[in-house]
Amino acid sequence: MQTDHFVRFESVTDVERTDTGLLARVHGERLRIDVCRADVVRVQLSRGGVFDEQPTFAVCVDPLQATRAGDVPFRVDTGTGTDSKTGGRQWRVVTDELEVRLGVAPFRVDVLRTDGSVVLQSVLGDDGRYETYRTLNDSWSTRRSRGRGDGVFGLGEKGGAFDRAGSDFTMWNTDVLNGPATEQFRAGLAADDPRADMTSTEFDPYYVTIPFFYHQSNPSGAMSGSFVDNCHRGHYDFSRSDEIRIGFEGGQWTEYVFAGPDMPGILEAYTWLTGRAGLPPLWALGYHQCRWHAYTQDEVEQLGARHREAGFPVDALWLDIDYMDGYRVFTWDEQRFPDPAGMLERLDAQGLKVISIVDPGVKHDPGYAVYDDGLERDVFCRTEGGDVYIGQVWPGDTVFPDFATAEARSWWGELNARHVESGLAGIWNDMNEPATGVIPPERMRFDHGRVSHERFHNQYALLMAMGTVEGLQAARPDLRTFVLSRSGFAGIQRYAANWMGDNQARWDHLALAVTMGSGLGVSGQPFVGADIGGFQGDSNAELFLRWMQLGALTPFCRNHSETDKVEQYAWAFGTRVFDLAREAVQLRYRLMPYLYSAFVRASETGEPVQRPLAFDHQYDPAAVAVDDQFLLGRDLLVAPVTRPGETARQVYLPEGHWYDWHTGEVHEGGRYVIAPTPMERIPLFARAGAVVPMWPTAPASTAGYHPETIELHVFEPVVPGRHESVLVEDDGLTVASATGARLTTTVTVTCVDGAAEVGVDVVTTGDGYAEHRRHGFDVVRHRPA
Ligand code: GLC
Repeated sequence: MQTDHFVRFESVTDVERTDTGLLARVHGERLRIDVCRADVVRVQLSRGGVFDEQPTFAVCVDPLQATRAGDVPFRVDTGTGTDSKTGGRQWRVVTDELEVRLGVAPFRVDVLRTDGSVVLQSVLGDDGRYETYRTLNDSWSTRRSRGRGDGVFGLGEKGGAFDRAGSDFTMWNTDVLNGPATEQFRAGLAADDPRADMTSTEFDPYYVTIPFFYHQSNPSGAMSGSFVDNCHRGHYDFSRSDEIRIGFEGGQWTEYVFAGPDMPGILEAYTWLTGRAGLPPLWALGYHQCRWHAYTQDEVEQLGARHREAGFPVDALWLDIDYMDGYRVFTWDEQRFPDPAGMLERLDAQGLKVISIVDPGVKHDPGYAVYDDGLERDVFCRTEGGDVYIGQVWPGDTVFPDFATAEARSWWGELNARHVESGLAGIWNDMNEPATGVIPPERMRFDHGRVSHERFHNQYALLMAMGTVEGLQAARPDLRTFVLSRSGFAGIQRYAANWMGDNQARWDHLALAVTMGSGLGVSGQPFVGADIGGFQGDSNAELFLRWMQLGALTPFCRNHSETDKVEQYAWAFGTRVFDLAREAVQLRYRLMPYLYSAFVRASETGEPVQRPLAFDHQYDPAAVAVDDQFLLGRDLLVAPVTRPGETARQVYLPEGHWYDWHTGEVHEGGRYVIAPTPMERIPLFARAGAVVPMWPTAPASTAGYHPETIELHVFEPVVPGRHESVLVEDDGLTVASATGARLTTTVTVTCVDGAAEVGVDVVTTGDGYAEHRRHGFDVVRHRPA
């Protein structure tokens, strides 16, 4: 972002202590520094003297509540700072874990941990003056120092390497494969710049905006976090070796700073602020079959039957846009679907759920009930002049619900609730950047035309999902909801899972599923997955199989492809690929208790299901550098095949000991191993000390499957230590689990001395639930050979 003419704020006056921190004056504006928790502070600067108290819908708690109640001890003092340039006066806000230093002349904000290590450090510009804050015509920027070799992670759904250092990013939800929507981001780039190509794995920006990142100091490995609660178009520049530049084209500087130093703690705090994913229905963790294709009702039923006959596990079939009547949302094409309720009932009897797509765009079509009703209620976005805004999506001329208003959200919620009365199990929200095709979106305004497009563009999908979920919950209060969204903003995890949009049937996009999925994972969104097989372009046998093997071990597991490309069903590439793909998916189903327990943890602490090695091993630089592996839950390490023809690959095993899942061989971690990659499988390792709960068999679907036993695979530690693994069992369907209708089993594995007996202690607590059939565990011990 070009900030040359921006006005710099350089001196602070009138500092006073408040109940929660400090309040000061800076160049006629007000500055607040507030303590949220011992490890989290908020910095806020007003515009026009007024603070924006709810900049976005991302934060879902009152972040100062505990501080106001006196539950977060802190003190404020003032003195002479150590600023070598000026020795200027400074104020300090000190908690048990951090200290904010506010330099008054010159204005600077620094945050340190109590041990003196840096969380955030102001930076001097080329002219020797501090770059704490600059602003011009609603835009603003802040800069801070970055040590050479420091890592940067997060920012949600971004292309390129997991470590964002060396790159710059724009925050603007974008329909990636749409020419007009991406033009402005490609313009002016050299032809050989990968970002000039919207199908490149480095293209930026993608569909989801999450202005939250981690900064890792080199060489200490300590991390700090930053969440700027601002939904306007933003810019993060990590391309410089010595500083980080953050800028937004509107809104205010409202930043939460997380002291860390550990990534899990920062994510716990970030998801305390922006919320956590609820418990997913268990079927949502099964295999999903999707394809953009004009099915008839019979064909959908045949598709389900074919999976069942072939013994290929599947929990859900998806309906893309062609189930509708002329792409009119909340309608069915009655020719092709004469009896949706009957179809859904018959599929349900076979354990098959159905999810239908619902795009935000409502066909501009007088006489179509949804359009007429929305118009009458005045719930569509308007332009500044008062027109109902019209864009171009699948149905042609399309109007857009004004999700910024509670009326539009509840109207939308009711429409969804009515839509699922037919028996649909979940909702798939697409084109919610919002995508407007060849018509630029900027004239679409919110709150009856009063509020700019920029304020809600990045939040559109979040608000759409909010309305959808509230509607579904009102209609089915006992059931968990499932919404899949393409776009999103910080906090989207509270309402929806994300798939990574329109990827390519290419190896580089298979590899992208790893870095992007892990990036979303550390940015608060645990329920993620890419279109298996690749969406655009023709997949092929090897790519498809390798993608199934990877996708079967990602949080969301859905095969999806574009219309008019080669078929990508499990059986599309011959018997051998089918058999091996089935094995991969069967492994997923057997791992369901492990996977589900990881989701339960995500709902409690924000801990990602798919995570980079950095999450659990941030002080190991080799682990942090790994871009083509991830951990599924805490204890399984997945190393997918990301290239064709590969017969073996290098795998980095972090500290500890690791069992090769396929051979049982135990490797000492902290080093690289070579793992064979025959077509049958991709490398998978289990952490020594872990207990991986598994179903004894892979059912056809999760529906009604309540096995009488669960296997506890104990991967015996080889060095002394104590390990705890947790299994949560519940009905997988209703909200009763949250109020106690569950069983929690804690398995403690202790190894006192390497050679001696390994103790396994299993303790189950909880009220249980009606469907529970398990009367025991089968403990399966894995030992070093
Ligand atoms: C968008 C979606 C894709 C879907 C298609 C048709 O491209 O990202 O998943 O199949 O629209 O609805």
